[in-house]
This record gives sequence, structure tokens and C-alpha cells, in this order.
Amino acid sequence: MEVLFTKAVIDRRVEELADVISRDYQGQDLIVVGILKGAFVFMADLIRALRIPCTVDFARLASYGSQTESSGKIVVTKDIETTIKGRDILVVEDIVDTGLTLSFFIDMLRKREPRTLRVCVFLDKRERRKVPFEADYVGFHIEDRFVVGYGLDFNEKFRFLRDVCVIEE
Ligand code: XMP
Ligand code: MG
Repeated sequence: MEVLFTKAVIDRRVEELADVISRDYQGQDLIVVGILKGAFVFMADLIRALRIPCTVDFARLASYGSQTESSGKIVVTKDIETTIKGRDILVVEDIVDTGLTLSFFIDMLRKREPRTLRVCVFLDKRERRKVPFEADYVGFHIEDRFVVGYGLDFNEKFRFLRDVCVIEE
């Protein structure tokens, strides 16, 4: 497996993102919503790098498709438990690829009328979009290669890796 981003490079980038987010949400009542399972490692690092308080919640989404591609049929298998109406919500996800998962989830949360709703993704495969979707905060833009580690998996394997690696299919 080829290393794409080392732990040191990831750590530096997470600090930069946290600086920007801390400034943007200064004085606000921030709720960070992670999408399970992929986001849990990134989110744990991100919230600890913030210089503002936040609360956390999680949703679990499933998309039925192949091992490396989502089908577009998204199902909420665990919803968030927080009332988000009138509050400031930052959704955190490991990767945006076709955009189907996040556009579905954001549309769902928007109906609950949060005061603000933004998205932070660790990785963005921009060229793969099937629906238009722009994250507000992006860790790294990557090419169309399947990556694992730092929370990302292939068949539930490799989430524990400290580096982000490319697996050859
Ligand atoms: P969409 O296509 O809906 O997909 O934007 C987002 C979800 O697809 C998975 N995904 C990956 N997972 N390495 C992974 O481990 C990858 O390179 C990759 N590309 C897409 C991921 O589950 C994400 O939440
Ligand atoms: Mg995922």
C-alpha cells in the first residue's frame, strides 16, 4: 500500500482546519455531527484541535452499493439525537465522492431548520461528483483512487491506520 498522507501531514492539516473553524464559530453554540463510521477518527482529532467549545452527535448512514462505490440509495440507520432547530451545525464526514451521501443528509438536516449548516470533509474526490456538492471545509483534495486509513475502510479493514494509504484494486 502506498502512503498518500502521513500522520504528520494529516495532523498539520487538521490543526489548520480547526483554526479556521474556531474563528468562524467564535461565540456560537457549535454542534459537531459526525457521520459514522468513517468520520470518527478525523472528528476526534478535529474537535480536540478546536479552541472553542462544542457538543457532538452522530448519525449512521448506509448506502447500498458495491464495496467501493455508493449506490445513491441512502438509508439513515441511526439518526442524531439533538434538536438542531435554530442551532449551528457542522457536519463532519471522512470523504465526499459522488456527493450523494452528503447531499441526502444535508437536505434532511436542513428541513429541521438549523440556524447555520456547514460541512467539513477530510477528503474530497471532486471529479467524481454525480450531484453538485461543495463542502465548506476540505482537508485534502484527492484524485480518483481508493483510499483507506484514518477512519476510512475497505470492507471494514484498515480504519486504524494512522496514515492515509491508497489500495490498488
Ligand atoms: P458519496 O459517493 O455518497 O460517498 O459521496 C461517500 C462515501 O463513499 C465511501 N468512499 C470511500 N471510502 N475510501 C473509502 O474508504 C475511498 O476512497 C472512498 N470513496 C468513497 C465513503 O464511505 C464515503 O462516506
Ligand atoms: Mg463513509
